[in-house]
Amino acid sequence: MKTSRPTMVAMVLVSLAVAVPYATTVKSESTAIEKRSRFDNKTRRERLTHRGAIDLELGGDRRRRPTEAPTGFDNETNGYLEQGPDFDTINEDNVRALASFNDNRFIFEEMEQIDDGLGPTYNAQGCVECHQNVVTGGASQIAEHRTGRMQDGEFFESLGGSLVHSRSTHADIAERVYWEDDIRTFRISTNTLGNGFVEAIANATLLVIRKNQPAALRGTAVMVPVLEADGQARIGRFGWKGQHASLESFSADAYLNEMGITSPLFPEENTSSGRDVSAYDPVEDPEDDGVDIVAFADFMRATKAPARGRITSDVTAGESLFNRIRCGICHTPSIVTAAPGTRINGGKFTVPEALGNKIIHPYSDFLLHDIGTGDGIPVLPTAEYAGTANQMRTAPLWGLRTRNRLMHDGLSFTAQEAIQRHAGQARGVTARYNALSEAHKQQLLLFLDSL
Ligand code: HEC
Ligand code: HEC
Repeated sequence: MKTSRPTMVAMVLVSLAVAVPYATTVKSESTAIEKRSRFDNKTRRERLTHRGAIDLELGGDRRRRPTEAPTGFDNETNGYLEQGPDFDTINEDNVRALASFNDNRFIFEEMEQIDDGLGPTYNAQGCVECHQNVVTGGASQIAEHRTGRMQDGEFFESLGGSLVHSRSTHADIAERVYWEDDIRTFRISTNTLGNGFVEAIANATLLVIRKNQPAALRGTAVMVPVLEADGQARIGRFGWKGQHASLESFSADAYLNEMGITSPLFPEENTSSGRDVSAYDPVEDPEDDGVDIVAFADFMRATKAPARGRITSDVTAGESLFNRIRCGICHTPSIVTAAPGTRINGGKFTVPEALGNKIIHPYSDFLLHDIGTGDGIPVLPTAEYAGTANQMRTAPLWGLRTRNRLMHDGLSFTAQEAIQRHAGQARGVTARYNALSEAHKQQLLLFLDSL
């Protein structure tokens, strides 16, 4: 990727704060993780540092009219991969990683064991444990736990990273919360269905959405490194803080941080609250050769976007109200993905026909906002990311009717409760919702129930 073209914009343009990965395990205090990796001589912090300028991603064949992206909760491919052999015939012996949607789905659903590299600290045995509703890849009720604390005005992650793993392979290495770490949050598992289309949104498109937002509601575009492109910067869009821009990067991060499985992008094992756990880890690193990571990413790239429920006249009226009172400023109703042939992810991925030039309805701008719900935990504990502590990514509302625990912490049980938590940048919009007649509120809620 050349960095001198006019399409490169300076970080300043992207503005404000910048956030980084999921990355939980970046440490401020322990030396265990800051030590140089024996694989490519990079510390984890270096891996998570972006290169400071993004490509607008304006290439590709832009002549054709965009078409609607396929939707459905049906375990069927969106066309990016072939469907493959009957899912029920696939097993550990005949699975062919990367060969088809069904093969990659099998790998996404696989339960890892200690012999495969699971743990020593982890959260679950397979991606599907937390991403399955109503089909493989959806959201779920599983919440993760993050903690940290402020000291002299500076944020410190808990030892071993802000993510506190909830399971371990041995009782002596269980991670527990330190009482001093009084900044605490839950973060619930998000949906991954349709995320191939989200990955295929050009940086330029997100910046235009941002520019068109009124100043008081304007979001923050977060710049994050694409790990497989050696830290090339891209606008983050995945995770509650927009910590990642590429599905391959997110998958490597999740394989390590959810399941304890190292790979070439993250070759160093996690600790237990800063303590080295290599004595409990029988498998040599990297535990995955990188193939599973691409299989996960390709599975998600091949999923259809969440499908709408029944659209009645009340639902249509509710959608107009949603836009009229400006919910749609942050919850962007429609976005067109980059043209087929566009090189994205720091040049590592070319948008294919199946994902390019598609109209999606995510009801999110994929930018960060301060609506008064920020969990206090920045993406990385550095000055550059300090502003992300009190911001969250606009939750995409597609698939909303399949979820019964809302907001990042899963602690809002109804859409009404979620709306009432919108303060800060959304305060004026919430006031406009509250000023609607009961009949109009009902229509707006029926619209949300159709997503
Ligand atoms: C223990 C539960 C758990 C497991 C296991 C898990 N995830 Fe997640 N996943 C989450 C949570 C929680 C989030 C939101 C995290 C955040 O933003 O802090 C998430 C977010 C994601 C996202 C971002 C989606 C979006 O747009 O917000 C992707 C992609 C993802 N996970 C992929 C994977 C893959 C691939 C695996 C298997 C290697 C996996 N996850 C395993 C809980 C899990
Ligand atoms: C300033 C931007 C902004 C505006 C305006 C806004 N939202 Fe949100 N919305 C967010 C953010 C950010 C979140 C995630 C907050 C969190 O999890 O802490 C969110 C979350 C939600 C959720 C929870 C979704 C889930 O999956 O958990 C719902 C429902 C929702 N918004 C509906 C609305 C409605 C209805 C309106 C208009 C009355 C609205 N929002 C206006 C930014 C906004």
